[in-house]
Amino acid sequence: MADGVTASDVQTVCTPEDLRATVGSWKAAGLRVGFVPTMGALHDGHLSLVRRARELSDRVVASVFVNPTQFGPGEDFDSYPRSPERDAEMLAEAGCRLLFLPQVETIYPPGGSTFVEVEGPSRDFEGAERPEHFRGVATVVLKLLQLAQPDLAVFGEKDAQQLAVVRRMVCDLHLPVEIIGAPIVREGDGLAMSSRNVYLSAEERRAATVLHRSLEAVRREVDAGQRSAFALSQLVLTVLESEPLGRVDYVAVVDQEGFRPIETLADRSVIAIAVRFGSTRLLDNLHIELG
Ligand code: PAJ
Repeated sequence: MADGVTASDVQTVCTPEDLRATVGSWKAAGLRVGFVPTMGALHDGHLSLVRRARELSDRVVASVFVNPTQFGPGEDFDSYPRSPERDAEMLAEAGCRLLFLPQVETIYPPGGSTFVEVEGPSRDFEGAERPEHFRGVATVVLKLLQLAQPDLAVFGEKDAQQLAVVRRMVCDLHLPVEIIGAPIVREGDGLAMSSRNVYLSAEERRAATVLHRSLEAVRREVDAGQRSAFALSQLVLTVLESEPLGRVDYVAVVDQEGFRPIETLADRSVIAIAVRFGSTRLLDNLHIELG
């Protein structure tokens, strides 16, 4: 931890009233408010979002809330890593001033029956694999945006389909917030940081670098002029399948906004992959912007 920074430098609030009071006082003072929603177990990827929000705003609010509605039956809601004390310290160090740490009953009042369905970008890939997932994500993100009332919110490109879903919802519901995408932060060997990497055995952890290696191979092919989605996905598959511990769920070549499959790279495309190592699913992607 940096000299002089402690968890107490972040004010922690658990109720909508306390959240609104602090954010309201900042806005009344003319300050621009940035927001970073998370599920905690923070790592440097999350903190990069806080730093980006800090660059773009005067005050940063983060939330830590393990959202039950985005986990399917049999998924890891109960065992999802939780470390609120450490999270608060890391947030303080990254420049966050307010931490919203609500209870489940606060976000989902008893008897609640309102959910958000974002069609289009929710349909395929993660949406097909985890049927209720994006409904849960969109619902909680809308609730958190309503509660925090930020001027901007930062999301990681790590979850590229989630980012597309959030952008679609914000546009469709005319929410007065700017959505900012921030690049993937990786470990030294290329593995995208994720709170779920702790589930990997030592052997799986070594093998998991294959995701990044496959995307690097794609980057080189795109730089050399390849534009065919089929050729690029075949290349990814060849690299991924060279690693016997991994089982490929999907390789998607899609447009960034709609997250729909494309045949030829568009101006703004994503190659998104999901690979299982044992019971752990890892996601990674490459955002491609053609000049
Ligand atoms: P969580 O997985 O905690 O991620 C919170 C934010 O951190 C997301 O925007 C995610 O894309 C970003 N992130 C995760 N790993 C990253 C990395 N290696 N580099 C850059 N950014 C990274 O995503 C969620 O929580 C939830 O679905 C949430 C949006 C909070 C709704 O519950």
